[in-house]
Amino acid sequence: MNDDNDNQFHRNILVTGGAGFIGSHVVRLFVRKYPRYRIVNLDKLTYAGNLANLADAENAPNYVFERADICDFERVREIFAAYAIDGVIHLAAESHVDRSIKDPFAFARTNVAGTLSLLQAARERWEGDFAGKLFYHISTDEVYGALGLGEGLFTEETRYAPHSPYSASKASSDHFVRAFHDTYGLPTLITNCSNNYGPNQFPEKLIPLCISLIRQGKPLPVYGTGENVRDWLYVEDHARAIDLVFHRGKAGETYNIGGFNERRNIDLVKTLCATADRLLGKPAGTSEKLITFVRDRAGHDLRYAIDATKIRHELGWTPAVSFDEGIEKTIRWYLDNQQWLDDILSGNYRDYYEKTYSGR
Ligand code: NAD
Ligand code: DAU
Repeated sequence: MNDDNDNQFHRNILVTGGAGFIGSHVVRLFVRKYPRYRIVNLDKLTYAGNLANLADAENAPNYVFERADICDFERVREIFAAYAIDGVIHLAAESHVDRSIKDPFAFARTNVAGTLSLLQAARERWEGDFAGKLFYHISTDEVYGALGLGEGLFTEETRYAPHSPYSASKASSDHFVRAFHDTYGLPTLITNCSNNYGPNQFPEKLIPLCISLIRQGKPLPVYGTGENVRDWLYVEDHARAIDLVFHRGKAGETYNIGGFNERRNIDLVKTLCATADRLLGKPAGTSEKLITFVRDRAGHDLRYAIDATKIRHELGWTPAVSFDEGIEKTIRWYLDNQQWLDDILSGNYRDYYEKTYSGR
């Protein structure tokens, strides 16, 4: 597990959930941009973890993968010690709202108990010398509850009011992070981000699900009447924000991250259909015929919208990728990487770890 060349690294950063959607973009960015940082990717490889997302980073000298469960406190402690971890970017979570409605226990376990296990390991390891250390938790705008149509934006001061088991578990983990800051002085940071989209997103979430179904010519399930509004952000813009907050954010603070880009679900799906038809050379209107209204999600939050003024003013971050550009890049990526989708649909992606890491 350990490395003889520890001293060649200026920092040892633990990224949890690095084999998932956003985590893989964060790992890739950090591995490339900071060759003097050692990036330790800790991931359990649940159904949502896919090491193929990091195929282009796995041989980098400053990258290490550790298959582990964040709830396994002893294992987490060992990893902190083995790599002299001095910074944490915590993304590992159960992330899908529909799954949380079916199995809330898994969400309490990983998102709440798992976060606590990481916090406690960081505290034990760093207590007495918090200088230069940081525990950074990646959270969601869903902790703020739901907005009415035209009812303003979520700010960092908005009261927590989670509705789904997923958002309740993320709210709880945010509270534990703040409790460790306020009680033990652990240097912590939280960002609450809106809906991400882009390459490598598991095809259970609205955008990759629809792209996958358009490809197969199958019905596109839109919940309820499709009036719900989400604020969409291209995933690489989120990864850039995480980089900035990790290096320049003030410990103890919270920053909201969003795309200033609200869309009704039905309009979003129609845009996906029109763009996909154009890219696939199909007659306009072909994919839109696949739209099917289905039973609404239980407790479906009507609208999320982030006020990202604080991070813009204090750290100078703004999204760089426009929605039209991001959607086209995303659809192109899924069409160009059909094997990635097929491996998920067949379940083959689950063999990647054994094939790549056995015998290492
Ligand atoms: P994801 O579901 O794609 O990936 C989650 C990763 O965590 C997977 O690789 C999985 O294997 C790993 N994991 C799950 N349980 C684990 C455990 N017990 N131990 C170790 N690893 C475990 O998620 P995502 O969409 O990339 O989201 C990443 C983080 O960002 C989550 O904390 C999520 O709440 C937050 N977030 C996501 C969005 C979004 O739009 N996707 C927006 C805001 C915040
Ligand atoms: O807001 C940030 C959150 O965004 C993250 O914290 C979550 O991890 C992430 O999953 C996402 O949550 P949503 O529930 O908003 O994302 P999802 O892609 O599941 O759904 C987006 C919208 O589309 C939502 O209003 C529900 C709707 N929907 C979703 C699916 C899967 C449909 O209409 N049909 C579908 O099949």
